[in-house]
Amino acid sequence: MSDLRAPLAVVAGATSKQGRSVVDSLLASGDFRVRALTRDPHSAQARQLSARGAEVVAVPLARGHRRQLTDAFRSAQAAFLMTPPVAPPSDDEYVLGCELADAAVEAGVEHVVFSTLENVDERTAGRHYAPHFTDKARVAEHIRTLPVTHTFVMLSFFYTNALEYYPPHMEGDTTVLPFYLPEHVRAPFVDPTTATGPAVLEVLSRPDSYRGVSLPIVGEFLSPGEMIEIYSRVTGQHAEYRDATSREGLVACFPEMDVNPLLVDETIGMAHYAVEYGYFAPGRDVQWSRAIDPTARSWEQFLRATDWRGGRMSFARS
Ligand SMILES: NC(=O)c1ccc[n+]([C@@H]2O[C@H](COP(=O)([O-])OP(=O)(O)OC[C@H]3O[C@@H](n4cnc5c(N)ncnc54)[C@H](OP(=O)(O)O)[C@@H]3O)[C@@H](O)[C@H]2O)c1
Repeated sequence: MSDLRAPLAVVAGATSKQGRSVVDSLLASGDFRVRALTRDPHSAQARQLSARGAEVVAVPLARGHRRQLTDAFRSAQAAFLMTPPVAPPSDDEYVLGCELADAAVEAGVEHVVFSTLENVDERTAGRHYAPHFTDKARVAEHIRTLPVTHTFVMLSFFYTNALEYYPPHMEGDTTVLPFYLPEHVRAPFVDPTTATGPAVLEVLSRPDSYRGVSLPIVGEFLSPGEMIEIYSRVTGQHAEYRDATSREGLVACFPEMDVNPLLVDETIGMAHYAVEYGYFAPGRDVQWSRAIDPTARSWEQFLRATDWRGGRMSFARS
């Protein structure tokens, strides 16, 4: 049972991969009470959060719920804000992100931590299309104008993408892993289900040290080729890289993506951006998250912990 005198932190998207990690870390610290926001307080995930000691409150992580959100943020000292996956051409992400932040400020929250990404539009002068990066950066710009202490975390590519969104397929005895990144280009990856919480706990525990900063959360930098070599070693399977770095390559591997050509463009745009410009802008402290959380999972540790053998795995609420 958490100490009723402990400061209250609201976690938006509490059943998400990021959100669950934040709830876990804040509750485990014993330093915070947690109010967990979800569409459905009766879902298995929400009941698990409740059993762990979170106060579960029904608010959708969707635009147009400003009043409900403001009520949900009342009496909280801190808030972790995130946006769910939003497919283009929707501009919901920007609107929702701003609504979350505005509601938190209206309710009197002192410190907000928003999960953002780089502004790809600005960094590439419009050359690459990745609205789910740019819209988060635009929300961050909005938050910078608000009268609230704010900190931004920036998650790397999720290890979970290969399990959840871009799973392998079998060709004979070979496990084929399609990647939207070139085989030998390294990029930052992370396990959002365990790495988000320690970073947010650190930030909320020392707000003065983290005012206004943007902090990458990184498990490790590695290339698809290295990931596949590790996958083979851990699973004992013969595994191969498949190039999904072009529109045609991506849709050939994931034909279901063809129903939304803009989503294909966005995936390719994001990947080309990361290769040409670097996932994180120059000057970001990519060592910080490991320094405050030395146990952050490597890809190999993630594979061993999940016991993944190549099938599609959902990390959504069960
Ligand atoms: N994949 C990557 O490599 C990567 C890297 C960096 C950042 N990101 C960003 O991370 C964010 C997603 O985080 P995540 O993967 O941790 O989230 P997630 O696991 O997909 O969970 C999203 C949560 O949002 C709620 N939700 C989902 N769809 C909804 C809808 N239509 N209406 C209302 N609520 C909805 C659900 O909560 P309830 O059902 O409980 O309400 C769900 O638990 C995205 O903004 C993405 O751009 C992703």
